[in-house]
Formats: sequence, structure tokens, C-alpha cells
Amino acid sequence: MTIPLRPFGRTGVKVSALALGTMMFGSRGNPDHDDSIRIIHRALDAGINLVDTADVYSQGESEEIVGKALLGRRDDVFLATKFHGQIGDDPNHFGNSRRWIIRAVEDSLRRLRTDHIDLYQVHRPEEDTDFDETLGALSDLVHHGKIRYIGTSTFPPSAIVEGQWIAEKRGRERVVAEQPPYSLLARGVEREVLPVAARYGLAVIPWSPLAGGWLTGKFRKGASQPPSSRLTRQPGRFEIDAPENAAKLEAVSALAELAAQSGLSLIELALGFVLAHPAVTAPIIGPRTLSQLEDQLGAASVVLSPDVLAEIDKIVPPGVTLSDRDRGYQPLKGGGTALGGAALGGRA
Ligand SMILES: NC(=O)c1ccc[n+]([C@@H]2O[C@H](COP(=O)([O-])OP(=O)(O)OC[C@H]3O[C@@H](n4cnc5c(N)ncnc54)[C@H](OP(=O)(O)O)[C@@H]3O)[C@@H](O)[C@H]2O)c1
Repeated sequence: MTIPLRPFGRTGVKVSALALGTMMFGSRGNPDHDDSIRIIHRALDAGINLVDTADVYSQGESEEIVGKALLGRRDDVFLATKFHGQIGDDPNHFGNSRRWIIRAVEDSLRRLRTDHIDLYQVHRPEEDTDFDETLGALSDLVHHGKIRYIGTSTFPPSAIVEGQWIAEKRGRERVVAEQPPYSLLARGVEREVLPVAARYGLAVIPWSPLAGGWLTGKFRKGASQPPSSRLTRQPGRFEIDAPENAAKLEAVSALAELAAQSGLSLIELALGFVLAHPAVTAPIIGPRTLSQLEDQLGAASVVLSPDVLAEIDKIVPPGVTLSDRDRGYQPLKGGGTALGGAALGGRA
């Protein structure tokens, strides 16, 4: 099995069509460092060359695991991390200010055991901070060789455009990638985020392509609550009986049937769907165990036919996100997670 390579926006870099997310490595998912490192090595051996982490994932532990795993292999990997979420209790160890970015990047470099980050992403927009302040600090990091490229995550389309304009008008480095939520159950970004990203030639690396586990087949109508590492952090979002999830359960049943008719697993259908959007570079998979990784690797070469894509549109129409909490516009304050918090509402 080989994983195809795709252009990373217009940077000239080539990345694997699946990226490895490491949010589940550490205390909030898989606390066994050796096992997590084995999963990372298996992904690299299978041909994945883009690894995504964040300073907030298990409050730095995920970055530490990635740093250990990449010893001796760092040059083979396009390494992406993020800043913005609350670290510890200091109110200024949060956000998109120059003061915090300069400190946060040094902490990430130390935990990752590297002298540079390939893609440094703003984990969320911050309305109290001038975007030019953020881009100015990030541009300095590019010029000092600490980071190679700037990315954003879960930015509304207006902020994506604003970033491009600031770069042009004030001579800042350009944002080259966006990391939005996107899956069969969360298609909101098809309306504006993906077209805007395509217009500016951004790489797009979607998060939660299996909707946090909903698209693995373990959440089924009429079945009992399946085990999920996310249940305690986000009870409502992963509770099978919660009214807010009724539409997701209906859709999952129909999608599972479509997958079976198409000779695919539900996971393959779900990842194949994200891969099929022309604006998408590489979905970020998020395995917690080695067998979860194995179930997903084969999906890299799945190509869905126009007929299957048309059937999907009948089940979840283009541009529709079935549950508000899957939109991804949550603040990362407090628990320091990308999964908690109240929805900010709004678009996509
Ligand atoms: N930028 C952001 O704000 C943001 C937000 C979220 C994630 N991310 C990035 O995107 C990556 C992927 O996100 P995600 O973890 O939410 O992706 P996901 O693929 O939608 O969900 C992963 C979860 O699905 C379940 N799963 C996967 N394979 C399975 C299998 N074969 N059988 C049963 N369950 C299976 C596991 O749940 P259990 O653990 O319950 O078994 C796993 O934790 C993260 O690692 C991170 O790098 C970014």
C-alpha cells in the first residue's frame, strides 16, 4: 500500500494524502508513550509524512511524544503544531499576542526536540487581538528560521481573507494553510471556507474526518452507548440518546448502508468523501490505538464514484452540518482542549 502525495497548497512541498493527528496521544487519550510512538512509526512507515499536534493536546504531552517519536526521523516529516489555547493558569499564556507567540514557539520547539516547525498554526482566531500583531510575530519567526510556514485553524472565511489582505498590504508573510472541521456529518465549510481557501491557493487539512468517532460505525441507532474517549469531555456531543444527535444517528445508518452497497467500510467512505473535495489536501486522521490506525490507512487510495457522491448528497446535503457542536467554533480557554467549550455560533 502506498499513500499518494499531494501538493501542499502552492508551497511546492508534497505531503501524504492522509495526515497523522496526535491529539489522542497523552493523558487525554492513550497515556502509553511507547504505544503512541509505535503508532507514529507505523504511520510514517506506511508513507504518512505530515504529522499534526498542538501545544494544548494533553498540555504539551502530545508534543513531547511526537518529539521522542521523531528522533532520527525529523527530516522526513512535515511537522505541524499550533498555539493559542490556554496553557496552565496564567491569563497571558493564551491567545494570539506577540508576547505569547514568542514564548509558546520556544516551548513547542523544546518539547518537539527540533529547531524548526514546518507549519505553525493559529489554533483559533482571537477577536481582542489585531490579526496584524499575530502575523507580524509569525513573520519574524519565519525570518528567524524557527518556523517555515504559517497556518490557521477553524477560521471563518472573512478572517481567512483578512489574513491574505494584511500580508499583502503590510508586507507580512502569507498564511498558506487552513485546518477546518470537515466530515460527512459536518459539511458547513463547503459553503465558503473551502471555496475561499481554493481561491487563495491554501492547503486544507481537515480535522475530525470521522466526526470524532461517529463515522466509525460504533454509534448505531437503537444500539447501546458505545465506549468513547470523548464521552467525559463532551458528554452531549457523544451521547447516543441526546436529542441533538438524532439527525447524526439517522445519517450514519444511511451512510453505513451506502458504504456496504459500495463495497467499502464506513471509515473508507468517510475518509474517501473528505479526500474527494478538490480544495482538500489531506484529512488529519486521529487514531488512539494501532488497530484504529490500520483501519484508516487503506482509505488513502479510495476514490468515490460520482454516483456514490450523489447518494451522499441525498443523505447529508452539501453545506449542511447536522449538529451545532460539530461546527468547531469553540474557544480553547479553560480546559485547554480543542474539543470543549461553548459554541461561538456563526458560520460553517
Ligand atoms: N484544529 C482543531 O481545532 C482540531 C480539533 C480536533 C482535532 N484536530 C486534529 O485532527 C486530528 C483528528 O481529529 P479527531 O481525533 O477528532 O479525528 P476523528 O478521526 O474524527 O476521530 C478520532 C476518533 O475516532 C475513533 N476511532 C478512530 N478509528 C476508529 C476505529 N477503527 N474504531 C472505532 N473508533 C475509532 C476514536 O475514538 P475513541 O478514542 O473514542 O476510541 C478516535 O479517537 C487530531 O488528532 C488533531 O491533530 C484539530
